[in-house]
Amino acid sequence: MQENQQQQQVIQHAARQLEAGMLVAFPTETVYGLGADAENPDAVARIYAAKGRPSNHPVIVHVTPEADLSYWATDIPPQAQQLIAAFWPGPLTLILKRASHIPDAVSGGQDSVGLRCPSHPVAQALLRSFKGGKGGVAAPSANKFGHVSPTTAQHVIDEFPDETGVGGAIAAVLDGGQSEVGIESTIVDLTRLATHGPVLLRPGDISAAQLAEVLGVMPAAPDFAAPRASGTLDAHYAPNTPVVLVASDALASTMQQLKEAGRSFALMSHGQHGKTEALAHLMLPAEPHGYAHDLYADLRALDAAHADVILVEALPDDREWQGVNDRLRRAAFDSRDVLGSLLA
Ligand code: TXA
Ligand code: MG
Repeated sequence: MQENQQQQQVIQHAARQLEAGMLVAFPTETVYGLGADAENPDAVARIYAAKGRPSNHPVIVHVTPEADLSYWATDIPPQAQQLIAAFWPGPLTLILKRASHIPDAVSGGQDSVGLRCPSHPVAQALLRSFKGGKGGVAAPSANKFGHVSPTTAQHVIDEFPDETGVGGAIAAVLDGGQSEVGIESTIVDLTRLATHGPVLLRPGDISAAQLAEVLGVMPAAPDFAAPRASGTLDAHYAPNTPVVLVASDALASTMQQLKEAGRSFALMSHGQHGKTEALAHLMLPAEPHGYAHDLYADLRALDAAHADVILVEALPDDREWQGVNDRLRRAAFDSRDVLGSLLA
């Protein structure tokens, strides 16, 4: 009870800090967010500065379940209502046409706005206290640009040691335990329905098949005319150690070759591989939700082994693994040639 009251006070204090234009990191069910008042361009600029993110990348605006969407967006199509009824609060972001009074800063200058209603109780309490529940909190994942997203409060502090310290740009880091989902929200673009239908900009825990069940059509894959989304850059979500995806049946020989070349490696698998020479080895659940839940925390843990490379046992190329495969491919993108040079 007392603990509860204390947490309420911490959350309310954080809401006042947001209202004053400061940054607050907070838990959501997907990953931790780095929040600012969406209607305060100076506050939003502080997010870009802290993350080292280009300012033409739009950020998601987080709202309460009671929010009046017509304040944020114009033209709310029936597909939006259907998806909201099915999946909010939860790990789904909708891209809608932006209301004209919403600052450019949150949309990276585009005429759209990304809206999400998180289910995490701490996120909801923060949103309800902030501007009496009438505001929106702009929040990308609370990590440096291109790096692995945080799924615990400690990850956020590790990511921003200076900014979360005394006098740093991040006024508070709210602790809500480990994020349940573990990968970022599914993003559906509903701004180009007439020409493209609903477009799946970023796969996530809510699968394309689940969206199709509600929408009556399978969402399209993004094309080159799609709005720029930083999660859709090829390289993203990457630890400092190079990541290489290896098919299950090639793992044993790859590990042997690395060993013979005098190279060290860490291993992330979903199958049993007995005893290996890996500096660190983590085995994740062979099921997409459990795998997603552990993914980022385990990538961070393996990164800390400071091996020459992190080998990741490749996953099935099935629709149900789409969200996890998307993140793994981006984490591995910049190091696709690393194995060759390590073994040369
Ligand atoms: O689960 C999540 O979505 C987490 C938590 C904190 O809510 N947030 C998150 O934010 O992943 P971020 O900024 O790391 O990724 C947001 C993605 C980016 O790829 C961004 O470009 C895209 O959403 N996005 C936001 N607003 C958009 C818009 N108006 N049009 C197109 N893409 C947009
Ligand atoms: Mg991110």
